[in-house]
Amino acid sequence: MKIDVLTLFPEAFTPLQTSIVGRAVDSGILEINLINIRDFSKDKHKKCDDYPFGGGAGMLMTVQPVFDAVNSVYKKGAKIIFPSPVGKTLNVEKVESLSKCEHLIFVCGHYEGIDERFFQLFDVEQISIGDYVLTGGELPSMVIIDSVSRFVEGVITKESLENESFSNGLLEYPQYTRPQEFEGLKVPEVLVSGNHQEVEKWRKQQSLERTEKLRKDLLNNKK
Ligand code: ADE
Repeated sequence: MKIDVLTLFPEAFTPLQTSIVGRAVDSGILEINLINIRDFSKDKHKKCDDYPFGGGAGMLMTVQPVFDAVNSVYKKGAKIIFPSPVGKTLNVEKVESLSKCEHLIFVCGHYEGIDERFFQLFDVEQISIGDYVLTGGELPSMVIIDSVSRFVEGVITKESLENESFSNGLLEYPQYTRPQEFEGLKVPEVLVSGNHQEVEKWRKQQSLERTEKLRKDLLNNKK
């Protein structure tokens, strides 16, 4: 999968160089390109923001640098994403469907937003990561990229995807590793019994109990 990220702050994306996403990039499963929108500004001071017509608080991103930056990477079939609190809230279904795209282009907003003509010039999907406002689109872009990457074949094992929270509409069951006893707390007997059927039964039950306790809302839309 190819991911182009258009941002005024490319240095914010160092977390994607580490851990699972970093390894997927190193192994060539993912290609992530960081493009500085400022490099496309035709303003003599490389300015990328201006006051909103009609007045109001803060500055807006101007359309020209973003227009040229998108055109420098856009190829037919690419999906343009603009993280924004006005978008539909991200969920596992959306994440999985984005993972099927071959080319994603993220445009990271800043200041009070972006000139509306950007949305008239391109087919853009706005995606929110929750009902709160962040200072820019860099963190939400990373959240979307991280969650989508996990569904790209070869990034993590199929088994990890199958057993995790939301994969079957429930929260994941509790897990334990060595030592078998710590500070007087023992690993549940069933997990060391070697009886796989009983382990499965226990996990299912734990998933249900946890979901009932922490996210009752999920039980209503269970697959
Ligand atoms: N940009 C600012 N706040 C955001 C949010 N909640 N989700 C996505 N993008 C954003």
